[in-house]
Amino acid sequence: MVSEEQLTKIRDTIARFPQKRSAVLPVLHLVQEELGWLSPQAQDYVAELLGLPPIKVHEVASFYTLFNKKPVGRYHLQVCTNIACMLRNSGEILQAIQKKLGIKPGETTADQRFSVSTVECLAACGGAPAMQVNSDYVENLSTERLTAYLAELP
Ligand code: FES
Repeated sequence: MVSEEQLTKIRDTIARFPQKRSAVLPVLHLVQEELGWLSPQAQDYVAELLGLPPIKVHEVASFYTLFNKKPVGRYHLQVCTNIACMLRNSGEILQAIQKKLGIKPGETTADQRFSVSTVECLAACGGAPAMQVNSDYVENLSTERLTAYLAELP
């Protein structure tokens, strides 16, 4: 399911916990890091690695929005729409993304390059409006900064 290199990271992570089951969150992160999302099969794989009933892993994966339960594009734009960001025009940022990329939250561009989602507070309120792109944060967004950021992505 994952590369040998990623499996080594997963095994090292599991070894740091007194009980395998306690590693469920970091292991889900590591599997998603490599596969880009957590298919039902990937969740079953994590359950097998941790010796857990699959339903226990499905419960965790489905609870957290940061785990992708369907495929996402190479760049997953997660726009915070919570209060601090909303007051600093995250709605404009979201509209600009939709206009530029032609996709709405929950959708992926046809070339699989971009997905967009709305998320709750990213704990970056001081840099509102904020957006998470994969594991990076982009803060103090404006439509101009957004355009420049998207243009610089490889
Ligand atoms: S409200 Fe957007 S980062 Fe906190």
